[in-house]
Amino acid sequence: MTDSRRLDVRQHLPSAAFAGFLLVIICGIGAAVIYGGLYNIGADAPHLRPTYWLIASLRDRSISVRAQDISVPKDLDDPKRVTTGAGLYGEMCSSCHLAPGMEKSELSQGLYPQAPELARADRRPPVQQFWIIKHGIKLTAMPAWGRTHNDDLIWDLVAFIRTLPQLTPAQYQAAVKSAPADHDEMMRNMPGMQMNDSRGSEESGEKSDAGHSHDTTQDGAASKGGDTDEHSYARVGSQTHSHDDSADGTSTAGTPLPASTAEPRAVVDTFFRALAANDAAGASRLLDPAVLIYESGAAERSREEYASHHMGSDAAFLKTAKHRLLSRTGDAVGDIAWVASESQLSGTQRNKPFLMVSTETMVLRKSANGWRIVHIHWSSRTPKSGAY
Ligand code: HEC
Repeated sequence: MTDSRRLDVRQHLPSAAFAGFLLVIICGIGAAVIYGGLYNIGADAPHLRPTYWLIASLRDRSISVRAQDISVPKDLDDPKRVTTGAGLYGEMCSSCHLAPGMEKSELSQGLYPQAPELARADRRPPVQQFWIIKHGIKLTAMPAWGRTHNDDLIWDLVAFIRTLPQLTPAQYQAAVKSAPADHDEMMRNMPGMQMNDSRGSEESGEKSDAGHSHDTTQDGAASKGGDTDEHSYARVGSQTHSHDDSADGTSTAGTPLPASTAEPRAVVDTFFRALAANDAAGASRLLDPAVLIYESGAAERSREEYASHHMGSDAAFLKTAKHRLLSRTGDAVGDIAWVASESQLSGTQRNKPFLMVSTETMVLRKSANGWRIVHIHWSSRTPKSGAY
C-alpha cells in the first residue's frame, strides 16, 4: 500500500526534461529583461517589492556575517572618541545622513536607497556600523571610508553615531564645534611623512659622524642593529642633522649598498611617498600586478587585492606617522633586487604618542617599464621603553 503511494507521488513529479525546459525559459526571460533594458535602474524609481526584499536580504546577511568576528574596542564610550567622531561626522556624513536640526539636503533627497537618518535610527549593533562605515555598501551611495581612514577613526564615528539619537540640535552643534581641529589636520598631525630620495646619497660618501651627536635614539638604533661595525649605522640621522621632531627621514644607513640598488631603492622610497600622500595610483603603478604582500601574518596576493584592502589603511596610517629610516641593506643582481629597511615610525594617534619600529623587505624585478615591486614583507613592533 505505502509502496504504491510512493510510486504515485513519483509519477506526479515533473520529468527531468520538463524541469530543464522550464529552466531554459526562466533564464531566457531573465536575459530578455536585462538585454531589453526592461528594468529601470533610475534612482527615482523605487525597486519592485520582491527586488527590494532580495537586495535588502543580500545586504543584511552579507553585513552581519562579515561583521560577526569584529570586536568592539573597550573604550567605545570614551568621550574623546565621541568628540573626534562628531567632527568627522559633521564633515563627511551629515550631507547624506543629516543630523538633529538639519533640513533635508538636496543630496540626501536624491539618494536611492535613502541614507537612513542616523539620529533617528540606531538600528544596528556597533560591529555592523563599523563594518558598513569601513567597507561601504555596493550600489548605494554609502562610501567605503576605510580607504582613507584607519580603524580607530572609524570607531570614533561609531561612538558618535550611537549618541546621535539623544542629541538636541544645539547639542549636536556644540559637539561638532568641540571636535579637535579639522580632520585633515588631525590625520596629518605630523609635519609630514617624507622619505628622502635616497638616490645617490649613499654613493656620495657624505660624512656620517654627525649622527653620533644626536639623541640617544639614533645611537640606540645603531647598537641594536647587530652590526659590529658601528660606523655602518652612523649615518642614521646624520644627513638632515635632524632632531627627533624632524619629519625628514634619513636616507640611509647600514652596510654600503651596491650602486646597482640605487634604482630599486628609489622605487621603494617613491612607493612609500605615494602611499603617505594617499596617491593610490602612484603607489599601485610601482607594484607588479601579481605582487605578494605579507603583513602581520596576513597575505595579499595581487595589486588589486592590496588596493582594495590594506592600501587605504596603510596610507591613512603612514600619513599620520613620522618616518625615519634607521638602516637599510640590499642587493641587485641582474633584474632581481631586494631592499630591506628598518625604520622608526612615530606620531600621535588619538592624542596618544606612539613609537614603532618597522622592518620591511621588498623584492623587485626589472620589467620593461622599470623596477616593480613583486614582494613585500613588513611588520612592526612597539619597542620596549628605553630600547629606542
Ligand atoms: C553620499 C551619501 C553618503 C555619505 C556621505 C555617507 N553615507 Fe552612510 N549611507 C548612505 C546610504 C545611501 C546608506 C544606505 C545604504 C543601504 O540602505 O543599503 C548608508 C548607510 C549607512 C549606515 C547603515 C545604517 C543602517 O542602520 O542601516 C551607516 C552606519 C552609515 N551609512 C554611516 C555613515 C557614516 C558614519 C558616514 C560618514 C563617515 C556616512 N555614512 C557617509 C549614504 C552615505
